[in-house]
Amino acid sequence: MIQFILNDKEIETGLSPGMVLLDFIRYHQHLTGTKIGCREGDCGACTVLVGELVNDDLQYHSVTCCLMPLGNATGKHIVTIEGINHPRELNMVQQAMADAGATQCGFCTPGVVMSLAGFCLSDKAPATENAIAAVDGNICRCTGYKSIERAAMQVAEKLRGKKDPVEFVTTQKILPAYFAGIKERLHRLAGKIIAAALKDVADAKERPHVVGGGTDLYVQKHDEMKDAAIRFLLDHPDYNSIHREGDRCIIGPSATVSDLQQSAIIQEAFLHFSRYAKLISSTPIRNMATIAGNFINASPIGDLTIFFLALDAQINLSPDPSPGERRGRSIPLRKLYKGYKQLNKDPDEHIESIWFELPAPGSCFNFEKVSKRTHLDIASVNSAFYIEMTGDVIQKAGLSAGGVGPVPMYLEKTSAWLQGKKITEEVIAAAIKTAQAEISPISDARGSKEYKSLLLGQLIRIHFMPLLKK
Ligand SMILES: Cc1cc2nc3c(=O)[nH]c(=O)nc-3n(C[C@H](O)[C@H](O)[C@H](O)COP(=O)(O)OP(=O)(O)OC[C@H]3O[C@@H](n4cnc5c(N)ncnc54)[C@H](O)[C@@H]3O)c2cc1C
Ligand code: FES
Ligand code: FES
Repeated sequence: MIQFILNDKEIETGLSPGMVLLDFIRYHQHLTGTKIGCREGDCGACTVLVGELVNDDLQYHSVTCCLMPLGNATGKHIVTIEGINHPRELNMVQQAMADAGATQCGFCTPGVVMSLAGFCLSDKAPATENAIAAVDGNICRCTGYKSIERAAMQVAEKLRGKKDPVEFVTTQKILPAYFAGIKERLHRLAGKIIAAALKDVADAKERPHVVGGGTDLYVQKHDEMKDAAIRFLLDHPDYNSIHREGDRCIIGPSATVSDLQQSAIIQEAFLHFSRYAKLISSTPIRNMATIAGNFINASPIGDLTIFFLALDAQINLSPDPSPGERRGRSIPLRKLYKGYKQLNKDPDEHIESIWFELPAPGSCFNFEKVSKRTHLDIASVNSAFYIEMTGDVIQKAGLSAGGVGPVPMYLEKTSAWLQGKKITEEVIAAAIKTAQAEISPISDARGSKEYKSLLLGQLIRIHFMPLLKK
């Protein structure tokens, strides 16, 4: 049984947990305000909000529910466009959209309104740039984005003085009053659910599909997943944390891109992490996309994979994802990839944690991604670079590159060659040459092999630039 709260209503359903939430909402609950566009996470027409208790705090974020399995709704508050309506008048967000003339055919409008409602419920500062960033996953084909941006600006202005988001939106009558009671209701639901979830895992007969956020699996295998046996790891109690042990950062496999963005440890270690993360998909996808999902998907251009390869991250693989006992083996992430989508991993092994040495004081890190569009696009070529110096000599270097071979690549030879060198124009040119000899790009829709090789050279040059200036 899957239990959650949908708008103001308690749900208990025995339907397949692999069904996407979008189908449950539209076809089983007949809430047709949530639209179906691409079914691939790209258009944002199906945006809903997910509220959950995090350390006893009720937090909301937006998701594209065309890629969210029903099982991942367990124990949460799901909010659709119907759940934020006032009985007789428009709410503040809807009014802002109307005032700014931000809707024409209206197909994208529920998604845009939900993203802005999510911004109202978030703890983000009420700044226009944050409001506009909240709709970065919503595509509109007819109105034009300027009027949507004006609506976002109006929403941000109305949120001045917001402290506790849920209290603010209910006392200011921005969203319906029932939101004020959700925290208490989720608490009551929690105990019942944990017992039921453990029983489901024990009952599974076939080897289940492991699902994190579902943003890869539901694009690639939508029909297969509907009725599949699934082991849900997104909310696994041991798998979400990001913490520090000495000089190591340990990341749970189900930490999402947004979790990494919000982590104080990650922010401190990587000054520009927010800028890097903005190049990865869109807000609703970042709210679902997990680090282990990115590693195991094994896309040669996986952004998180490229990021963590440069840090020579290690992964702990376990044959048993249930909490408690620790068994299994540890391998460097760079040893996970054997060939295109071929992994050095048994089918029943799972990533149970990821760790890397935190950057040493005075070290330098950079991530670059070039795609046809700056935002909401996959990379043509991406690359990350970690470097430690003693005086003006390179002590340790880690260089990774994506889109230049069948797997995400740790450029082992170039990284090793750089050790002991001083950074000069000649060394950079030689490093580029070594890297270009290590890769094997192919020509495809994202560019010719010559272009990709040249592009990697330019990215390596950019990595070195701040160091060359010193
Ligand atoms: C619209 C859109 C835009 C995107 N943009 C980008 C982008 O810019 N950059 C980018 O890198 N990616 C992008 N992606 C791809 C995707 O979001 C990421 O790869 C994401 O990190 C996958 O994580 P997930 O949890 O959603 O994976 P899932 O779909 O849940 O799983 C992916 C694979 O990982 C396995 N898996 C999950 N957790 C574990 C675990 N703990 N142990 C073992 N196996 C596990 C699953 O079984 C599955 O094989 C995009 C996807 C969409 C839909
Ligand atoms: S239908 Fe397009 S993102 Fe879900
Ligand atoms: S109003 Fe028509 S797609 Fe946005």
